[in-house]
Amino acid sequence: MAAVPILDVSHLVKTFDITGGFLDQLVWRNGRLSRRKTIVRAVNDVTLSMEEGETVSVVGESGCGKSTLARAVMGIYPPDSGEVRFRGERIDGLPPNRLRPYRTRMQMVFQDPYASLNPRMTVQAILEEPVRFHNRGISAGEVKDRVARAMMQVGVDPSWNDRYPHEFSGGQRQRISIARALVVDPEFIVADEPIAALDVSIQAQILNLLMDAQQDRKLTYLFISHDLSVVRHISRRVAVMYLGTLCEFADKETLFASPRHPYTQALLSAIPRLGAKGFSHVKLKGEVPTPIDLPPGCVFHTRCPHAVKVCFEEIPKPLQCANGSLVACHRVADGSI
Ligand SMILES: Nc1ncnc2c1ncn2[C@@H]1O[C@H](COP(=O)(O)OP(=O)(O)OP(=O)(O)O)[C@@H](O)[C@H]1O
Ligand SMILES: [Mg+2]
Repeated sequence: MAAVPILDVSHLVKTFDITGGFLDQLVWRNGRLSRRKTIVRAVNDVTLSMEEGETVSVVGESGCGKSTLARAVMGIYPPDSGEVRFRGERIDGLPPNRLRPYRTRMQMVFQDPYASLNPRMTVQAILEEPVRFHNRGISAGEVKDRVARAMMQVGVDPSWNDRYPHEFSGGQRQRISIARALVVDPEFIVADEPIAALDVSIQAQILNLLMDAQQDRKLTYLFISHDLSVVRHISRRVAVMYLGTLCEFADKETLFASPRHPYTQALLSAIPRLGAKGFSHVKLKGEVPTPIDLPPGCVFHTRCPHAVKVCFEEIPKPLQCANGSLVACHRVADGSI
């Protein structure tokens, strides 16, 4: 029997109602005034599952719904529909008190270590708070031990524990954010662009730190990034998103060697490769449509060089290709590309 996935996301939809005030809602239609809602479809029917101990990266252009997916997985945003299961148990839409036990098992590291650490608390207090919150009755000595262990693991000297976040550099702050996630002994971490705000020289150190922690603690990572070279380094599998939908989900090697979805092909062709001969850059026409008025059919058809009639009309279902990748594309499905 196949093991239960650690995370199972099924047909997840998350929209935001950004309808303004009464006057903003009024539109002139068929000769009379009517009211209109403005809905952003940030995540649109996403299905993916993760195995224990692996890193799955989610890539895609800005605004494609990566962070919304991450937050819906963590229960920060209740989805409109669809399911999120953690080790087989449904966690979407749980009230805060029922979600609390999962908060130790699932942690999140955010992009901006400047905004995600409370500037009024010392590092010791920042790290002690989640330990005390999730382990009622824990002794003061045990709390201190756990905090010291987490600080050592991320390479921050525990003797700096009475300093405030502003006394640290960006890289050190991100180390402290990671320590705050590790200090409660999670099984699963969602890292939303954890190195995007850091200097290039620091990025590699933080990536290595994340990978070491994964080995030591058998962690599973959902890693959000738009940096394909980082994704190539850290992931086992990669999910490619476009306008809230998943276009391709594949093993890293397969995806980088033979991307199948036309959007993945365009995305990967934008990576400069040293010494690559016959390298052709796929230039997409037009702009990414807004997630407020999603195009009908395949959301990528407005920019796809291979689009035909069916792509304008029907939403493609993700299908498994011969190379094992899941691809949502009519043209791949009918064998024409
Ligand atoms: N709280 C919110 N209210 C309204 N719209 C939102 C909200 N959060 C996200 N959106 C919209 O949902 C869409 C997806 O946003 P999201 O932040 O998930 O994208 P992203 O892929 O993480 O982008 P980036 O790479 O820039 O971080 C965008 O159009 C965004 O404007
Ligand atoms: Mg984001």
